Amino acid sequence: MRIALIGAGARGSDLCEHLLPIPHRAGVVAVAEPVTARRNRFADRHGIPPEGRFETWRDLLSGPVKADAVIVATMDHDHKEPAIAALERGYNLLLEKPMAPNLADIVEIGAAADAARERHGTVAGVVHPLRYGPSFRKLKDLVENRRVGDLITLDHVEQVGWWHYAHSYVRGNWRREDESSFMLLTKSCHDIDYLCYLVGKPVKRVSSFGGLSFFRRENAPAASTDRCIECPIEPECEYSAVRWYVAADREQWPAAVVADDHSREAHLNAIATGPFGRCVWKSDNDVVDHQVVNLEFEGGVTATFTMTAFTQRMARRSRLHGTRGEIDFYQDGIQIRDFGNNVTETIDFGDLGGGHGGSDYHIVERFVRAVAENNQELITTGIPESISTHTVTFAAEHARLTGQVVDVQAFAGG
Ligand SMILES: NC(=O)c1ccc[n+]([C@@H]2O[C@H](COP(=O)([O-])OP(=O)(O)OC[C@H]3O[C@@H](n4cnc5c(N)ncnc54)[C@H](O)[C@@H]3O)[C@@H](O)[C@H]2O)c1
Repeated sequence: MRIALIGAGARGSDLCEHLLPIPHRAGVVAVAEPVTARRNRFADRHGIPPEGRFETWRDLLSGPVKADAVIVATMDHDHKEPAIAALERGYNLLLEKPMAPNLADIVEIGAAADAARERHGTVAGVVHPLRYGPSFRKLKDLVENRRVGDLITLDHVEQVGWWHYAHSYVRGNWRREDESSFMLLTKSCHDIDYLCYLVGKPVKRVSSFGGLSFFRRENAPAASTDRCIECPIEPECEYSAVRWYVAADREQWPAAVVADDHSREAHLNAIATGPFGRCVWKSDNDVVDHQVVNLEFEGGVTATFTMTAFTQRMARRSRLHGTRGEIDFYQDGIQIRDFGNNVTETIDFGDLGGGHGGSDYHIVERFVRAVAENNQELITTGIPESISTHTVTFAAEHARLTGQVVDVQAFAGG
């Protein structure tokens, strides 16, 4: 299968790494990426010849390249146009989340996907990897098979990780709503999507609270300056950009994203002039660092979701309460306790690897299989499913901003 990548930034490069273990099934034949160093680094890694290297998605999609599927991994605001153009040309599509930063654009992508399915038999999916990871799939099986009876309520926590939050949401691409979108959409649309999948019923109502509490100017240490590079307390600061982006392995995420040239000088220059060198209390960030969402599903199941920056681990954690027992989920392990006999069963997944507990590999592998078999049903995160759970995410943010309990159906109608 011939795959074309649009946007060879951090995420696009990462997703395509998961194609390398299945070379007999799929390979990347073309890339569109305006940054020359990125384009060439990616193309060299995947053995893409010069005629498969393009500066923009428009060049790629209007060129002579023949591909079976397109992966769109440009930034959040730049998904709609290449996604619709790819669908109109009959390409199977794997689209990064969020589908788009507003519901009108999301609905437009949905209409294009419907038309493409009808006209070309197109397979399309959105990258919500959690549904595909081994431990997340096991949790879904346990719920479906009523292992703890009827599910009554659950709590789910997205532990963003203190340094990951500072990197991506204080200094990085998703720090400002006007440049990307709100935190619940850019970070947690996966979690809302997974909760909806787990419960398997439509969400009726949502409420939400949250804000930006810590990464604000008034919390900066008295002696701190605007940039780490000139700051007298940098050596002992846990957020030191010098340590994170210059002294660290500069070829690896997260240091790798601050510059395309990974020399010490280029990284020093990046933190002296760019957003990644800013003091974490004096950046121009405005997205929340903690948020809770309450969800009520049809049939009465309730759920809470918490996104927090303030965690050591970067992983999901959940507690599910059923009529006959309860489940603790840690992403790499599950504990099931039966009320009747007080027995605890433990499932240990061992090392699942990176990428959302191994989920990233599995979504890529599944997409390849779905395209090969032209079987949309293999993609549980198709465009309609994703539109539905994006809508819940937008409704929850509306609830946070207005302080109301929001009826999701009425919100979607509006
Ligand atoms: N599903 C997940 O778990 C997950 C994880 C991380 C990121 N993402 C999403 O992936 C997307 C990309 O994130 P990222 O961290 O890679 O950002 P990035 O900025 O590193 O990459 C985006 C790339 O798109 C390129 N680009 C810009 N205009 C283009 C054009 N006209 N044609 C082709 N390429 C173009 C940019 O030069 C850049 O290299 C975002 O939407 C993000 O939200 C999803």
